[in-house]
Amino acid sequence: MKNRYLGNSGLAVSRVCLGTMTFGNQAWGCDQKASTAMVDAYIEAGGNFIDTADLYANTVSETFLGKALEGKNRDNLVIASKSWFPMNDTPNARGNSRKHIIEACEASLKRMNLDYLDLFQIHGPDPYTPIEETMGALNDLVQSGKIRYTGCSNLYGWQIMKANAAAKQIGMQPFISGQYLYNLIRRDIETEILPACVDQGMGLLCWSPLASGLLTGKYRGVDIPDPGTRFKEMGAILNDRFIWKEALELVDLVCAIGDETGQSPVTVALSWILKDHAISSVLVGARSVEQLEPSLVAGEWDLSDEHRTALTEKLPHNHGYPCDWMKVALVSNFSKTEFEPNRAQRFPPLA
Ligand SMILES: NC(=O)c1ccc[n+]([C@@H]2O[C@H](COP(=O)([O-])OP(=O)(O)OC[C@H]3O[C@@H](n4cnc5c(N)ncnc54)[C@H](OP(=O)(O)O)[C@@H]3O)[C@@H](O)[C@H]2O)c1
Repeated sequence: MKNRYLGNSGLAVSRVCLGTMTFGNQAWGCDQKASTAMVDAYIEAGGNFIDTADLYANTVSETFLGKALEGKNRDNLVIASKSWFPMNDTPNARGNSRKHIIEACEASLKRMNLDYLDLFQIHGPDPYTPIEETMGALNDLVQSGKIRYTGCSNLYGWQIMKANAAAKQIGMQPFISGQYLYNLIRRDIETEILPACVDQGMGLLCWSPLASGLLTGKYRGVDIPDPGTRFKEMGAILNDRFIWKEALELVDLVCAIGDETGQSPVTVALSWILKDHAISSVLVGARSVEQLEPSLVAGEWDLSDEHRTALTEKLPHNHGYPCDWMKVALVSNFSKTEFEPNRAQRFPPLA
């Protein structure tokens, strides 16, 4: 499996990361046996990068992962976890305070029976805790050897900048990664978050790269999802997030390119994301080794430029304001100056 550096850091991660949100989830996930089998298959395929969170299956995902890692060479792996979501009803068992971050990290290590995490991520922004407190706590975890690197998830672009500025002030290495929703259907991060991460030397880690299963091509239009699938159990959230007429037409194109190339639609959809080297890794989810297999193929297989363009143009992303203002104002006022090729590289496309 091919590796990429996680942003500007020296940490090499597989470009397909094993997500473990399904581990232990009773409604749409899998049991210990299937979880262990997926970890084995992933490592067998050459993968080194596994992501979890205290939230997943109310901590059971971490417990299952810890069990699955028994007997493995832990130092050859990159293990990531996250905290932020409430762990119980008491006021400090959530968010990004010093108290919660340190306790959450220690609890994750204990559940997985590990000495350290390679990557510890704040799972979301905490509007009630000063960012200096959060970054100070993360830095202390690095200094104590409990974590190697830090990352964030689901922050706005300006929050990333503020956090990294706070890190710099205490001589700490800034976030090396940002974990965000990104797939062929939901490309929101292209407007501001992706440019912010590139500017900050952070690698993108993409969650729900298959739109929670829609981009596998198994739901075509009016199909009723099977019981036990994500779309059946979480339809109230997922239908609004991913399903509309043009999105389903895009799924048809993903399937057609799959037929043309002899690959699964899963492989095609993941490879579209990985064509962009700002993305360090796609976080794939599965309930079985069988489901995982076409995702593992994306660790090696590359989409052609022609297919990439066809998919990108099928469901264009509307960047909105201020991009549409810049298309007029910036281009007409600055276009006489020759920029170095990568100077404005990550501006949302102006042409
Ligand atoms: N930071 C965050 O806020 C955040 C949020 C969400 C996830 N994540 C991370 O991202 C990882 C991946 O997210 P995700 O699970 O939503 O990703 P996803 O790849 O978009 O969806 C995975 C789901 O698609 C279906 N699927 C996958 N392969 C399939 C195949 N070959 N055939 C048929 N169905 C298939 C399965 O669902 P069904 O069988 O149920 O249809 C599977 O559980 C998570 O494990 C977690 O580590 C992070």
